[in-house]
Amino acid sequence: MAKDVIIACDFESAEATLRFLDLFRDEKPYVKIGMELYYAAGPEIVREIKKRGHKIFLDLKLHDIPNTVKKAMAVLSKLDVDMTNVHAAGTVEMMRAAVEGLTRPDGSRPLLIAVTQLTSTSQERMNEDLLIQGDINDVIAHYAKNAERAGLDGVVCSPLEAAGVKEATHPSFLTITPGVRFADGDKGDQVRVTTPERAREIGSDYIVVGRPITAAPDPVQAYRKVCRDFLQR
Ligand code: C5P
Repeated sequence: MAKDVIIACDFESAEATLRFLDLFRDEKPYVKIGMELYYAAGPEIVREIKKRGHKIFLDLKLHDIPNTVKKAMAVLSKLDVDMTNVHAAGTVEMMRAAVEGLTRPDGSRPLLIAVTQLTSTSQERMNEDLLIQGDINDVIAHYAKNAERAGLDGVVCSPLEAAGVKEATHPSFLTITPGVRFADGDKGDQVRVTTPERAREIGSDYIVVGRPITAAPDPVQAYRKVCRDFLQR
């Protein structure tokens, strides 16, 4: 199964993003484009990064009525991204509509991943604000099973949840895990963090790494270290 390191390009403009990517001369890292950059720079930045030969995870976390999500996914599919996502909270029907919209006439499509519960949602907030009863890990496993039932390829989750997700679904159901830090690194605002080596042991398929690479004095060296530790190459 393909494992890879995805760099979270959380920059505020196309210029800052391309300046960062220009640092990489010998490799073409897999890149995550989130809401900040997409809303600032639009589909053009996706086309430009694609043209430069990078794979793209477009992290827009769609959540709307099935018909709207289906149509929005058809647009994203034409952008030729490699991976995109929805909120599992949108229901199995919405996720099925997303798969349909994303599938191209030739049957191919980007990988489709579900967000289960955001890592910013605590047990207490889920129970009290959202009125979703039960244990948050059971809810995450249930949402992962819904995503599998709808035909999605995997979920975004904390590395610490990756083993539970695979147990609830199947071993090849993908886990995409942010919250990765070097053992001696600054955690920033992430609370539950894991090193790239540990993420590998736990069974993450893709790790999403932002600031430990983007804010490093030498981002290329930092990227290579994450690859060595996670991919063992
Ligand atoms: O800089 P850092 O390594 O913390 O970046 C992690 C990236 O993963 C950010 O783009 C963040 O929005 C994203 N993310 C996350 N936790 C989630 C889902 C996405 O940190 N549960």
